[in-house]
Amino acid sequence: METQAVETAAAVTSGGAQAPAGMAWQDRYLLNLAPMDDIHREFVSLVNALLVAPPEADLVPLMDALVEHTERHFAMEQRWMEESHFPPTGCHEDEHSRSLAVVVAVRDKVAAGDAALGRTLARELVPWFDNHVASMDWALASWIARTGYAATA
Ligand SMILES: [Fe+2]
Ligand SMILES: [Fe+2]
Repeated sequence: METQAVETAAAVTSGGAQAPAGMAWQDRYLLNLAPMDDIHREFVSLVNALLVAPPEADLVPLMDALVEHTERHFAMEQRWMEESHFPPTGCHEDEHSRSLAVVVAVRDKVAAGDAALGRTLARELVPWFDNHVASMDWALASWIARTGYAATA
């Protein structure tokens, strides 16, 4: 009986047969700016891939894809901020720079064998994205809608 309880506890703490929690698209992420919504769907998909990767999976290609995406995603928003003369560009730019630096640093740690750190980053990116979309990206999308700037991918 006691052995069974220990085995049950071990199965629960290791995730058991349950699928790991992923990151699903939420309609609250929609900012009604198609190229931004599209790249945000891509972000969610990449973070989800990291979150649901099985324990034996090689996370390096997934981290490489996340680095490539993050550089392209932030560069696109940067271009829009500059071309549309978005007033708080510096604040949004700083947040992007800090976040990209973390993603790149974690990619290198994962490549050096610390897969757990990649999974931790992915978990932390879920609330980070929620907040970033609702604040900085929302402000940029609102500015673009107000000014009529033609934001393209
Ligand atoms: Fe964004
Ligand atoms: Fe952003």
